[in-house]
Amino acid sequence: MNLTFRQLKIFEVVARRLSYTRAAEELHLSQPAVSMQIKQLEENVGLPLFEQLGRKIYLTEAGQEMYHYSRSIAQQVEEAEEVLEQLKGLSAGRLEITVATTANAFATRMLSRFSRKYEGSTVSLDVTNREHLLRQLAENEKDIAIMGRPPEDADLVIEPFAENPLVVVAAPDHPLVGQQPIPLYTLQQQTFVVRELGSGTRTAMQRFFAEHNLSITSSMEMNENEAIKQAVQAGMGLGIVSRHTIELELETKRLLILDVEDFPIMRHWYLVHRKEKRLSPITRAFKDFVLSEGRNLISQLP
Ligand code: PGA
Repeated sequence: MNLTFRQLKIFEVVARRLSYTRAAEELHLSQPAVSMQIKQLEENVGLPLFEQLGRKIYLTEAGQEMYHYSRSIAQQVEEAEEVLEQLKGLSAGRLEITVATTANAFATRMLSRFSRKYEGSTVSLDVTNREHLLRQLAENEKDIAIMGRPPEDADLVIEPFAENPLVVVAAPDHPLVGQQPIPLYTLQQQTFVVRELGSGTRTAMQRFFAEHNLSITSSMEMNENEAIKQAVQAGMGLGIVSRHTIELELETKRLLILDVEDFPIMRHWYLVHRKEKRLSPITRAFKDFVLSEGRNLISQLP
């Protein structure tokens, strides 16, 4: 059989519309051109594909078989075109992302893996606190965010992709190091270096202590995890931070995790975007990437 894709395409339209005239209109061809292609196709196939009864045309049995295959071929080609279009969009795409301060511990690593996969795409990354990040989404300044659980909001799509344990850290020479388990109430006698108001870590910490009827003392407030780690190492108090921010300090033993009762406080990381936001191909690709590989990437932190 020596049929061409053009013949199949024309056949698919004639078979769907059961009219040479309407098919010719849809294909922007003349009616004789359409009839000619069908005639050649029938010759190639060696069987009649249509029969004419009165002024109407009908598919023969061979025509029905051919229609089944021509439809699925046309759909496949359409799908291939769509995928290729998306890839064009991906390689030239720009990802506008904003992440919570703590998520920066793994965001750069995640983005570098992603960019390697989608060469040609560019990324604009903002690292900011939770309140500002929510405003950026609301005002359509950023397409997608990585953050701790956002407030309930019907306008947001919120998808978890990894756990985020908050732990109590201390300098290696802190008197509580080595005690285990440390009763929770002991923390009331300690001083803490804490994150700023508006931080997800701070909110989770406050909620946790309120639920356990404890009030703790803070000596200092800082808006960066790096600063908290430095202050804790310098002996200014205990810190409560995401475990994802201290891998290096644990490895070099500059900080230790205290074995406190009821810890860690288990939070999660979420991908968040506005419901009505039409995600660009690159943003959709990033979302799929994080949902499928994010958890693994975080667990491989150095
Ligand atoms: P944070 O965010 O850096 O604002 O604390 C992390 C979180 O929400 O858990």
